[in-house]
Amino acid sequence: MRTAAGERLEVLVSSQDIKTRVEQLGKRISADYDGKDLVLIGILKGSFVFIADLARAIDLPLAVDFMAVSSYGMSTKSSGVVRIVKDLDNSLDGKHVLVVEDIVDTGLTLNYIYGHLKSRGAMSVKICALLDKVSRRQVAVPVHYKGFDIPDEFVVGYGLDVEERYRNLPDVCRVMKS
Ligand code: IMP
Repeated sequence: MRTAAGERLEVLVSSQDIKTRVEQLGKRISADYDGKDLVLIGILKGSFVFIADLARAIDLPLAVDFMAVSSYGMSTKSSGVVRIVKDLDNSLDGKHVLVVEDIVDTGLTLNYIYGHLKSRGAMSVKICALLDKVSRRQVAVPVHYKGFDIPDEFVVGYGLDVEERYRNLPDVCRVMKS
């Protein structure tokens, strides 16, 4: 892909590896939620690519909803401040919720969302994250379904951005300054 001036991309997790892993996660989730009223909740914007692929890898009559929270703004550092900027469209009463997140970094965002959703009438709330930067964690959050552990590096692609760029990249890449 063409890059912004002064940036170079290096593949960390390839689109093929993502595809294989998403299929595995889809099979596990299909088995675990068989017979349950499942709703996937995508956290915007970063999860939009992952949730699209994951939803199609799950062989169940599920529903999809979205939430947007502000945590990073235009900076690459976590502010620790989490605010709902777009709430769910539908009630969670009687539903089994699977939160679909692109990446867990400090855990601050998911910790807030997890606590918040548990208070909204769902039968269960679990978390599925494509990427996990375990070494960066500041608060413990349970990641029930995980794609890949990655090192403490800033990554883009497959939904993830730097200042809104590179969400359309099929691989997860490191951004190198050239
Ligand atoms: P946390 O609250 O620190 O866990 O941050 C979670 C959010 O920060 C993710 O949903 C992403 O939007 C963003 N984020 C964390 N690490 C990265 C990264 O390496 N690249 C792009 N966005 C990231």
